[in-house]
Amino acid sequence: MVEDGRKVLANVIHSQVAVHEKFGGVVPELAARDHLERLPGLLDLALETSGARPRDLDLVAVTRGPGLVGCLLVGVGVGEGLAAAWGRPLTGVNHLWGHIYAAMLAAPDLEPPLLGLVVSGAHSDLVRMPAHGRFEVIGRTRDDAAGEAFDKAARMLGLGFPGGPALDRLARQGDPARQPLPRPSLPGLEYSFSGLKTALLYRLRDLGDSVTDQDRADLAAAFEKSVVESLLEKLDRALDQEPATEVVVAGGVAANTLLRRRAAEVVGGRARLTMPPLALCTDNAAMIAAAGHYGGRHPADVDPSLSW
Ligand code: KG4
Ligand code: ZN
Repeated sequence: MVEDGRKVLANVIHSQVAVHEKFGGVVPELAARDHLERLPGLLDLALETSGARPRDLDLVAVTRGPGLVGCLLVGVGVGEGLAAAWGRPLTGVNHLWGHIYAAMLAAPDLEPPLLGLVVSGAHSDLVRMPAHGRFEVIGRTRDDAAGEAFDKAARMLGLGFPGGPALDRLARQGDPARQPLPRPSLPGLEYSFSGLKTALLYRLRDLGDSVTDQDRADLAAAFEKSVVESLLEKLDRALDQEPATEVVVAGGVAANTLLRRRAAEVVGGRARLTMPPLALCTDNAAMIAAAGHYGGRHPADVDPSLSW
C-alpha cells in the first residue's frame, strides 16, 4: 500500500524460505501454490496495517513479468479480482522497473534522469532511465546473474538456502586476500560470472577434505569481492562515459554488505547514490505499487520473460 508512488503505508512480506529450503532452491509449483494460499491473508494484513479502506484506493498494480509464470498468474488473477470487486483500474508492472522505483520510496525527491544497477536473482542490468517509465539497458550479464552466482557459490560452500544472505554473513568472518579468486573482466559494460563460479569449484576441489571453516569464510569473502568489484567497475565506467547526477543500486543483491559500502565509495562525490533499505531491496509489493503509480501503462497480460 503506497501513497502517491512515494510513501509506504504498508509493505507486508511473507517469506517462502521455509517452503523451499529443504529443496535447496525455489520449487516453482510450490511457490505458485503458496502465493495462492497466502495472498488473501496478506491483503487483509496490508489493509489493516495501512488503515486504508478499499474505497480509498485509486489503482491496483500487479507484476506481469519477468518471473515464474505460475506466481505471475496467481498475482494477475488476484489483481483482476480485486480491481473488479473494488471498481478500480488494474495495471501490470515490470518487476525490474519495480526495483528502481523502490529507490524512489527511499528518497522522495529522487527523479529521473538516473543511472541504475539492478542486481537480483535473475538480472544484473545497467540501465539509464531518462524519464518515468523509460529505460535503456546499457549493460547486462552474458551468463549468470549476480544473485544466481551468489546462490550457487553458497551451495558449493555448503551454506543453506537462500544462499546470498548466508554467503554475506560468512564473508564477514573471512579475508578475501587469503584465497583470492579472479575478478571477471569483459570489455564494455557486460558482466560474466560463470568463470568465477568455476574458479571457486576448482579451488574447493583442490582443497578437498582439508578445507577448514576459515578457508570457507575466506573463499566467501573472495567470491563476494570479485562479484562486487566487477559490478562496480562497470557502474564506474558507465558513470564516466555519461555523467549522471542520480545513481540507483537496487534489487536483492543490493542488500549485500560489501556492495553497499563499496558502491558509496565508487560513486563518491560524482552523483547522489540511492540504495533502498534492505526490506525494499529484496522483492516486495511496495515497489510494485510505486512503479504502477508512475509507469504502469501495460495491460496485465503475463509475460514471464519480459525484459525492460
Ligand atoms: O530481487 P530479489 O529479491 O529476487 C529476484 O528478483 O530475483 O533478489 C534475490 C537475490 C537472491 O539471489 C539472493 O541470494 C540475493 O538476491 N541476495 C543477496 C543478499 N540478499 C539477497 N546476495 C548477496 N548478499 C545479500 N545480503
Ligand atoms: Zn526482484
